[in-house]
Amino acid sequence: MRQSYRLGQYKQIALGHGQCCLDLEGALIARDRVGIQDFVLLDAHNSETAFLDNLKKRFTEDLIYTYIGTLLISVNPYKELDIYTKKQMDLYMGVNFFELPPHIYALADNVYHTMLSEANNNFILISGESGAGKTEASKKILQYYAVSCPSSTLLDTVRDRMLMSNPVLEAFGNAKTMKNDNSSRFGKYMDIQFDCQGDAVGGHILSYLLEKSRVVHQNHGERNFHIFYQLVEGGEEDLLRHLGLEKDTKRYSYLVQGECSNVSSINDKNDWKTVKNALSVIDFDANDIEHLFGIIASVLHLGNVHFDGDTKGYATLNTNAALRWLLGIHVQVLHEALTFRKIEAKSEEVLSPFTVDHAIYARDALAKAIYGRAFTWLVNRINESLENKDSGRKTVIGLLDIYGFEVFSVNSFEQFCINYCNEKLQQLFIQLTLKAEQEEYEAEGIGWEPVQFFNNKIICDLVEEKHRGIISVLDEECMRPGDATDLTFLDKLEEKMGNHPHFVTYKLADKKTRKSLERGDFRLLHYAGEVTYCVVGFIDKNNDLLYKNIKDVMRLSKNPIIQQCFPATEGDSRRRPETVATQFKNSLLRLTEILTAKEAWYVRCLKSNDNKQPGKFDEVLVRHQVKYLGLMEHLRVRRAGFAYRRRYEVFLKRYKALCPATWPHWKGVPSDGVEKLVQHLGYQPDEYKMGKTKIFIRYARTLFATEDAFEICKHELAYIYVLFALLLFFFFCQHLATKIETCWRGVQARKERDRRAWAVKIIKQFIKGYITRREAKTTDNSEYLAFVRQSYLNRLKDNLPKTVLDKTTWLTPPPVMTETSEILRQLHTRMMVRKYVRGITPQKKAQLQQKVVTSGIFKGKKDSYPSSIAVPFVDTRINEQDINMRVLQTIRHERIKYSVPVVKYDRNGFKPRPRQLILTQAAVYLVEEAKIKQRVDYVSLKGASLSNLGDSVMILHVALNDPKQKGDMILQCDHLFEALTKLAMIANKQNNIKVVQGSIKFEIQAGKEGGVDFSVGQEPMIYKGKNGHLMVVAPRIKSR
Ligand SMILES: Nc1ncnc2c1ncn2[C@@H]1O[C@H](COP(=O)(O)OP(=O)(O)OP(=O)(O)O)[C@@H](O)[C@H]1O
Ligand SMILES: [Mg+2]
Repeated sequence: MRQSYRLGQYKQIALGHGQCCLDLEGALIARDRVGIQDFVLLDAHNSETAFLDNLKKRFTEDLIYTYIGTLLISVNPYKELDIYTKKQMDLYMGVNFFELPPHIYALADNVYHTMLSEANNNFILISGESGAGKTEASKKILQYYAVSCPSSTLLDTVRDRMLMSNPVLEAFGNAKTMKNDNSSRFGKYMDIQFDCQGDAVGGHILSYLLEKSRVVHQNHGERNFHIFYQLVEGGEEDLLRHLGLEKDTKRYSYLVQGECSNVSSINDKNDWKTVKNALSVIDFDANDIEHLFGIIASVLHLGNVHFDGDTKGYATLNTNAALRWLLGIHVQVLHEALTFRKIEAKSEEVLSPFTVDHAIYARDALAKAIYGRAFTWLVNRINESLENKDSGRKTVIGLLDIYGFEVFSVNSFEQFCINYCNEKLQQLFIQLTLKAEQEEYEAEGIGWEPVQFFNNKIICDLVEEKHRGIISVLDEECMRPGDATDLTFLDKLEEKMGNHPHFVTYKLADKKTRKSLERGDFRLLHYAGEVTYCVVGFIDKNNDLLYKNIKDVMRLSKNPIIQQCFPATEGDSRRRPETVATQFKNSLLRLTEILTAKEAWYVRCLKSNDNKQPGKFDEVLVRHQVKYLGLMEHLRVRRAGFAYRRRYEVFLKRYKALCPATWPHWKGVPSDGVEKLVQHLGYQPDEYKMGKTKIFIRYARTLFATEDAFEICKHELAYIYVLFALLLFFFFCQHLATKIETCWRGVQARKERDRRAWAVKIIKQFIKGYITRREAKTTDNSEYLAFVRQSYLNRLKDNLPKTVLDKTTWLTPPPVMTETSEILRQLHTRMMVRKYVRGITPQKKAQLQQKVVTSGIFKGKKDSYPSSIAVPFVDTRINEQDINMRVLQTIRHERIKYSVPVVKYDRNGFKPRPRQLILTQAAVYLVEEAKIKQRVDYVSLKGASLSNLGDSVMILHVALNDPKQKGDMILQCDHLFEALTKLAMIANKQNNIKVVQGSIKFEIQAGKEGGVDFSVGQEPMIYKGKNGHLMVVAPRIKSR
């Protein structure tokens, strides 16, 4: 049976898996050599002193991070700590949040895994006052993701671009202030987009209100944006020459107002290199870079444009020197734009000259506009390079790093906006952690001791409320006809906010307070403390006006970035653009919407001291921050409250596998199921509460243990699923096998049945066909006849005669094939003949021709002929060396054609004598050793006779014209047919060879005859008969 889970059990399981012991509390305490890592575990959780003590204890040991549950507190150490190495990152990857000491990496990792497992969007709100370490924290988080997320070549590009967007944006948007040498002067919200595998695939940045006024003015001890110094200090000679710049920041009036262009903590030269490299990584080509720095240089040149007053007090320009570097716009055109204002009066345009102050104002407005718009362009351009065009589902982790709450000796419109922004974020924090939480407990009916906290809604309303808030009053002043000034604005404020507890002015203040206020000030009692704002510049800065003719002139610029920043379509609308404060307010509203749609995580940054001093823990300063950040309240709510809550259905759905009663389905009410589940898991009564619709879990550790148990269970489940699937598969296969067998048998049976039916039909047809096989072809016998034909042909094919002479082998055809068989037989014979003929050699051919002659003469005439057929003829029976030399010398000239041994019978007395019979081209010779006994030329040879029997006697008839001529030759020759055929062919006597029955007469000499009688006997014999004839007894030939 599947294992069920109890949290106690889980501890052992985890140990078994080689992980750290998850007796969380014990483990934490064991590791807590320095202070308490999680304030939730602090005994005196109501004591601010204990809280601070713990922070300080840890801080002095360089332990800058401490938790309140899942909230991370970070105290700025103002020194490099060895806790951001790759090794440290590896340590925190995928490890349970509470297993290792608090770290920004632990939070980053936890957010990442929550995003992956719950497939939801998250954001990390990093807050704290200026210089507390927000930007550093956000960079550490980004670096952690860059290292810990899966990577590929493609993703590496995205990752590098995300990382490299930081130095670029910091160069253009950060500056040294009194509070922070690298203070963010713009708000930054960055979405890191992940695909479903957890790969970082893209990003998007939203920027908020850049402090543009810094371009033209810096307070004492402060600097302009870093990029100006980086360019002037670090820029290559060629580049500076091209931009008309000198390598001396003191030469530029926009860079010297704070009187601290050089700061020891800042290395502009090195930073320049970093920025140049970063620009190339985020895909800026040489042109982009040239144009971008062209703009930066233009702003510096613009700052050096100085005006003199003419006699009427109107602004004039002494020199146009600086103007020629301005964005490729004609010097004269610029000159006019900076000293005159174009007023549209009815149908004509009138040029109205500026006073010197007015001209300076217009120049600065232009510088701010150019820089501000170029900054927006830069953010858009970075977004293009981070954009992921894949439309697949993505989840995001948002990082909010915005300018921190700040209080200077003189605070202006910018501080008002920045601090308002911090109020809003604090409100969001309160909303999400304190207020909403407590309201929820109430709604869910959870017994709850309310925690008192300061709700800054009252201040937010004071600033932003429609028609009544400071921004509304400011806007009204900016827009109303007549001479609105900063002071009339202050009057209006006093009029409207007179009684507000968080608002005070010189006029409204009591005596004591008045001492710390100027007449042009108003003071807000912010959540983080009092800030006195000087109203000077509020109206102008809120209007942020740029004269139309200056905008028109900017459009003439040859710099493509400026062309994009001042589009021709701008100003088409007659509607007045929104004021800066309203734009900012609306953008914060949108930001709040973006954030509330995501799951929130918090990093609260604390400043350890005001002097940027390493290791110094200013208790008063930290206590103040702890207070206004509401950390004590947060701790109290955490302690008394519940770290986690989920709707019963959702909770049950996720964890039901951990309890046999709820797995796989819970049939009852979800809350009962959850109750069963947590009881089974061994939750202690103080660890959770059951609300109306949700379960509330008090400690994060309880949830983490549950989650870890779930992780293990998931693996087991996966294993069980596999087993189950295999089992199912096995049963399925078994079932399938039976099914297949049944089907197979069915198919086989059907096949057999069909086969038999077919066989019956065929047999019937066969029988019918056999019966009617001799009849003409009908449907009944056609099949049978076809079969007979086919089977005959098949048999014939295997039994064909092998030789031409084989006449017996041909198969007897069935009646239907008689004719065909005959044709085939002839064809086959012809084929064999042809084959035979083709295989005949010239010698063999000559032989056969001789045999044909033999056949013509003797076939059917002489008994011994058939037996001679198979005996091959030879060229000669006596070789020339066996013929006597003398004979040869005598007859050689006639060319010997054939010789054969014969027995010659004397014509008188028939005495047998061995002789050689030699046929030449001209005559036939009978030779005895060296003696030619008789020569008969072929002309004199009348012919030859022989009997029809099986003997081998022949008589050569000689024409006896001459009395000296010897008579006919009676010869016995073992090669009778051969010798006679050769003779017939050489002497051309085919027609002169006679086969005779009975007796043959021969001439002994002219006029005297003898006879040879032939008969058949038991034994072949030749002897002289009583009648004086030669008696030849031939053997009996069987075939006869
Ligand atoms: N974790 C840290 N380790 C070492 N030094 C740090 C750390 N955090 C901050 N610092 C130091 O403090 C300085 C200010 O930090 P940072 O710029 O992050 O502040 P901030 O909260 O972003 O301020 P602002 O609101 O002005 O932008 C850094 O330049 C750095 O010198
Ligand atoms: Mg910052």
